[in-house]
Amino acid sequence: MNRAQQRRIGTTDLVVDTLGFGGAPLGNLYAPISDGDARDLLGTAWDAGFRYYDTAPHYGQGLSERRLGDALRGHRGGGYVLSTKVGRLLAPAGYADERHLYRSPMPFDIVYDYSYDGVMRSFEDSLQRLGLDRIDILYLHDIGEATHGSDNHALFRTAMDGGYRALDELRSDGRVSAIGLGVNEWEVCEAAMEHGDWDCFLLAGRYTLLEQAALDSFLPKCVERQCSVVVGGPYNSGILVTGTRRQGHYNYAAAPDDVLSTVRCMEAICRDFDVPLPAAALQFPLAHPAVASVIPGMARVKHVASTRRYFNVPIPAAFWEALRDEGLVRADAPLPGAPGTGETGR
Ligand SMILES: NC(=O)c1ccc[n+]([C@@H]2O[C@H](COP(=O)([O-])OP(=O)(O)OC[C@H]3O[C@@H](n4cnc5c(N)ncnc54)[C@H](OP(=O)(O)O)[C@@H]3O)[C@@H](O)[C@H]2O)c1
Repeated sequence: MNRAQQRRIGTTDLVVDTLGFGGAPLGNLYAPISDGDARDLLGTAWDAGFRYYDTAPHYGQGLSERRLGDALRGHRGGGYVLSTKVGRLLAPAGYADERHLYRSPMPFDIVYDYSYDGVMRSFEDSLQRLGLDRIDILYLHDIGEATHGSDNHALFRTAMDGGYRALDELRSDGRVSAIGLGVNEWEVCEAAMEHGDWDCFLLAGRYTLLEQAALDSFLPKCVERQCSVVVGGPYNSGILVTGTRRQGHYNYAAAPDDVLSTVRCMEAICRDFDVPLPAAALQFPLAHPAVASVIPGMARVKHVASTRRYFNVPIPAAFWEALRDEGLVRADAPLPGAPGTGETGR
């Protein structure tokens, strides 16, 4: 057993491990996983000390929640932190080979609902699907223009009105410990900050070795308002772990040429310092004082041990300086190991 350090979520009493388990692959993202393999994967992750797990109704249209709940139910003493999401209800839709990038999902399709009733129903549905009596963190899922385009304006209003009221009520009643947004764009988190008192944001793919625009205003605001950030998609969906040796994913599609050429430059520095690229990808975001946890998605049993290894690889300060000197990470990005970075926890 090899627990990661812990950091506090916002100003709540909840603490999470700095390394968590991203549950999107458990819903058969890109490729199917058998129930047996999912059980082995989750058993291996538990034995390896993973205690923060993230899932969502969206992941395999219920499949990830069912698999994760089945695995966590055995640990009656708890001792773990579980996040799931609201904003998508699941409606019966028949069997399909693929829906929304998930292979052989459950026979449901998604219906967006960010209203008070929709959020309350989504929370109750998740408890039933998980077969658990507690969810620790509830994220409002994929509100924002990236998902909803021009419909977002009206949906955002609903989410910040009824949706937020439902989340706030669940938190006040103690039925969840923390509330936030789970999204792939920081802009909507910044907008949401003007409408509510959020504990944390699960920001996927937008504060990574490849992308740091969140440094401009979003991350400083999180520090100022004591909101934590959980970094999803730390490999930008794959390219920062596969590297350029095979066709990696970037933002859930084939990595484009400009990304491949940046990653090639990073790989050259990784070779010079004998640092695995995914090790740098996992460790970099945690240097920011707003970041509480990184949650890579794991699809295979062997990923559990390699993830732990990457997370713990010692990386010399000179490596980070070389990335910065080559303009591969921004000059104002906090670097791991530097004084004042997030390493001492919050
Ligand atoms: N809007 C949201 O709230 C949102 C959005 C995105 C993500 N998230 C959360 O963040 C989590 C992580 O994001 P993600 O899964 O989308 O992307 P990611 O963590 O950037 O990349 C995950 C992929 O990297 C590969 N991988 C992971 N560990 C590996 C290892 N040790 N060795 C080799 N390959 C490895 C796997 O690809 P292969 O399957 O190809 O092997 C895996 O599917 C999600 O699972 C989810 O919990 C939330």
